Amino acid sequence: MKLDSRLMAIANLVRKDKVFADIGTDHAYLPVYLVEKGIINKAIAADLRIGPLENAKDAVVSYGFTEQIQLRLSDGLDNFKENEVEEIAVAGMGGLLISQFIERTNWIKNEDVHLILQPMTHVEELRKTLFDNGFVIDEEVVAEDDDKLYIILSVYYYNDATAYTELDLIVGKLPQNEDNLSKKYLSRIYEKFNKKLVALKNAEKECSELEKLVGELKQWQQ
Ligand SMILES: C[S@@+](CC[C@H](N)C(=O)[O-])C[C@H]1O[C@@H](n2cnc3c(N)ncnc32)[C@H](O)[C@@H]1O
Repeated sequence: MKLDSRLMAIANLVRKDKVFADIGTDHAYLPVYLVEKGIINKAIAADLRIGPLENAKDAVVSYGFTEQIQLRLSDGLDNFKENEVEEIAVAGMGGLLISQFIERTNWIKNEDVHLILQPMTHVEELRKTLFDNGFVIDEEVVAEDDDKLYIILSVYYYNDATAYTELDLIVGKLPQNEDNLSKKYLSRIYEKFNKKLVALKNAEKECSELEKLVGELKQWQQ
């Protein structure tokens, strides 16, 4: 199984020998790869819909991993029991949907559970949900496929609300990273907010808050 850079970056964060859940698995690429590489030996590939689960079944059967990888219909983590899995990936979905899964799944508030989240949108809102619910982001990674950048959050429950600023929600842990993709991602954030600022200024609208924020983001301009 060959993974693209985005899924490979997620796979690289999975802890060895844990029970793994892939939420919104579609073709079960992640669990198949992880079992094939011997990183995990037991996984649950879950999806909301039958069609993607059929795709997952085809992959699991063709790789001969029916003993190791179970298939499950589940809306988010709703159809999972407490202590069933310790390593959970949620990838390729919107950040608001991922936030909903987090808010309504109490059993993931456990220090032994590791979440690996790859939101396609609304990463700021997802960070806010995590912080407000007692989770900490221990690492953020940027991956690139076809000139599109993806962000991946590695998250644990910490049982404490993290204090954060607006800037923290926007840039997350990325300023700690030394790699070029993180720098490129930060530079794109700067460009996005600067564009908004220019538009507001051209329309002669109030923009002092945004101006301050863009001033802080400017350090990552490339
Ligand atoms: C774009 S695919 C992502 C597949 C894979 N995780 C990846 O990142 O390449 C999104 C998948 O999430 C599933 N999905 C959407 N809403 C879901 C929900 N509420 N619970 C579980 N799976 C969901 C879809 O059926 C689809 O298979």
